[in-house]
Amino acid sequence: MIYAEVMNQVEQLIDNGELKPGKRLPSIRSLAKRFGCSVNSIIKAYSELEKKHKIYSVSKSGYYVVERVRSGHSDSANTGFIDFLSAGPDKNAMPYRDYQHCINQAIEVYKEEMFAYSEIQGLPSLREELARHLRDLQVFTVPDRICVVSGSQQAIHLLISLPFPNGKKNICVEQPTHVSMIESIKYQQATAYGIEITDKGLDLDRLEHLFKYHEIKCFYTVTRFQNPTGCSYSNKERRKIVELAQKYDVYIIEDDYLGDLDSDKNQDPMFAYDPSGRVIYIKSFSKVMLPGLRLGLSVIPDFLRDSFLSAKFASDLHTPVLTQGALEIYLKSGMFNAHIQRMRSIYRRKAGLLQKAYQEKLPSGAAYSGSNSGFYSAIRLPSPLKARTFIEDLKKENVHVDDARKMYLPEFVQDSVIRLSVSQVEEKHIEIGVQTIARVIQEQLNRVHTVKFK
Ligand SMILES: Cc1ncc(COP(=O)(O)O)c(C=O)c1O
Repeated sequence: MIYAEVMNQVEQLIDNGELKPGKRLPSIRSLAKRFGCSVNSIIKAYSELEKKHKIYSVSKSGYYVVERVRSGHSDSANTGFIDFLSAGPDKNAMPYRDYQHCINQAIEVYKEEMFAYSEIQGLPSLREELARHLRDLQVFTVPDRICVVSGSQQAIHLLISLPFPNGKKNICVEQPTHVSMIESIKYQQATAYGIEITDKGLDLDRLEHLFKYHEIKCFYTVTRFQNPTGCSYSNKERRKIVELAQKYDVYIIEDDYLGDLDSDKNQDPMFAYDPSGRVIYIKSFSKVMLPGLRLGLSVIPDFLRDSFLSAKFASDLHTPVLTQGALEIYLKSGMFNAHIQRMRSIYRRKAGLLQKAYQEKLPSGAAYSGSNSGFYSAIRLPSPLKARTFIEDLKKENVHVDDARKMYLPEFVQDSVIRLSVSQVEEKHIEIGVQTIARVIQEQLNRVHTVKFK
């Protein structure tokens, strides 16, 4: 029997459910015996099925059937409301079983390391794997510069507090930005200068002014699918920002928390324009995988290595070995890449539906942001509506959204902006949700006008 026939037969067994998701496939030798063919035919068939993301391999263990995306669990079926509020990744698309398998494997592989303190910087074998993975994101670096962190938030929080070689103290940050960044600034008592994200993007003249006159130590920026606006920079803007940073001796903390969702291979991270250490790259594994794992990484420049590692040591000694080991296996086996492909298509579809609904349903006085993937987008309510009362009224209609006020520095706060995350909302509820938002906007506007004429 030739490999193509073996491949077809195994594929059929998977498709008709005889070989269940997460189950180990028969060993190469036993299958060769069963089909009366050479071991090489089975190896070739398995490797083709792996390329098709039907199965994955786990070193020293064998081949397993890939977990399909779960379906049939709707946001409203579970909760009774349309949830544009929750910020975690799509619960129905999470690779629980695959990851469970990796954790079991990690217990086997790392049983000794798990019961002792480990390296502050992260498992060397994982860092090697991460360096390989980062190449796909146009981030070319070596394992020695990578530090595994307990969620990207840890890297952000530590970097804010550390002295940088430019001797400056102030932080520059996009407005709005995600809430944990605002909290970090508050708790580190850092002086922060905001720069607004407008309909036309970032005002680069204003950025230059801030860099030139305000002793900016670093510019914290989310370059793709920003939280909460969903906006991404063009390569031209990224390059220009890096040039300004070089000119005025400012460092850039580039938070690429959703970089995996960008299917446009021509988009470069800022890191690609200056890998010397000027741009400190951060990546999260929370938004495309399980946020509870608390896994992220930072590419640390040589000048920060010692101080960053001592800060990390003071914070939690190291990120747990078990989750690190499981991530390594997940990356090595090809499961992560297969998972990312699925996530990309899920979020592209959802983002597309959301933008279409905004365009068709929202009244003309409402402005909105967003892009072709990612989770987040924001709506600015028409004047004089306020986010707080709007959200309360919307809740009564079983649609939940977030108030963006907490995503601003105090001097930038806007009280008419709401954030929507599309990750937990089923496709079929997106349009209905936006339609409800549009109706409540209209009702509130009508009420304002009625009161005026009383
Ligand atoms: C832009 C951005 N960066 C970083 C984080 C923190 O992610 P992590 O779970 O990796 O700490 C978040 C969390 O929502 C975020 O929105």
